[in-house]
Amino acid sequence: MSEHVLMERPSAYPGVLVIRLNRPDKKNAITAAMYQQMSRALIEAGSDDTVRTIAFLGTEGCFSAGNDMADFLSFAMAGGQEEPAAFGLLKALVGASKPMVSGVDGLAIGIGTTLHLHCDLTIASNRSLFKTPFVDLALVPEAASSLLAPLVMGHQRAFALLALGEGFSAEQARDAGLIWKVVAPEVVETETLALAANLAAKPVQALTIARNLIRGDQAAVLARMHEELEHFAMQLKSAEARAAFQAFMSKKAK
Ligand code: COA
Repeated sequence: MSEHVLMERPSAYPGVLVIRLNRPDKKNAITAAMYQQMSRALIEAGSDDTVRTIAFLGTEGCFSAGNDMADFLSFAMAGGQEEPAAFGLLKALVGASKPMVSGVDGLAIGIGTTLHLHCDLTIASNRSLFKTPFVDLALVPEAASSLLAPLVMGHQRAFALLALGEGFSAEQARDAGLIWKVVAPEVVETETLALAANLAAKPVQALTIARNLIRGDQAAVLARMHEELEHFAMQLKSAEARAAFQAFMSKKAK
């Protein structure tokens, strides 16, 4: 088991399962193995009665720099036919039966941003940055963000985020409805965990029904994920995407 994703059960916050991205030397970029660990944890949490709420956290100053670029490049070079590991996590997010909250401090890039569209409440520090440079990497939006972001924030802001690749500060993300609350960096974790524990203490049946009603039918969300995946997989193998990944890797080598 890699230490890059930690599952924690903090005793001060009963009923809460923390799924923590813990690869700070790579800005918590997510590899295939990490996606698999995250989706397994989410699926197992679904049938564990001692878990009432899930909390996604990163490390100090960084939630996630998104998909691991080396993984993108090797997928592109191999002309990958298989389903990207990220898709397993996306399906687990859609299927998650328990409330999910997230706490962001710092960078939230690519899936580090789109993941929160599946969370019920997100708290971010005032130094956070939400950004999805999909098109600049010759990719397309994923995680059903092309459906959910316009619903949440309207076409123009969704276009700025997903197509223009514009960065959103925590305040902009809150004003756009992408996240719930902005706090100081030193309290992101405690506020997120307290929120998760607060939800965990509520009458479980009522909360589950309320959540399902608020989230609505997830069939369209899943269908959009599949549609996006087809384009994403094609684009991943394109010459323009390969060039973008290589540019990142060679910049790093210098
Ligand atoms: N995949 C793999 N490694 C990544 C990464 C990613 N998505 N993002 C950052 N890293 C690595 C860097 O390569 C570097 O590794 P090194 O120390 O071995 O060279 C380390 O994390 C620190 O990153 P660095 O770029 O030096 O930090 P920075 O503060 O200057 O910039 C970012 C941080 C996140 C802005 C920049 O790394 C970046 O643009 N990353 C790519 C983000 C991205 O496009 N993700 C995909 C979205 S679909």
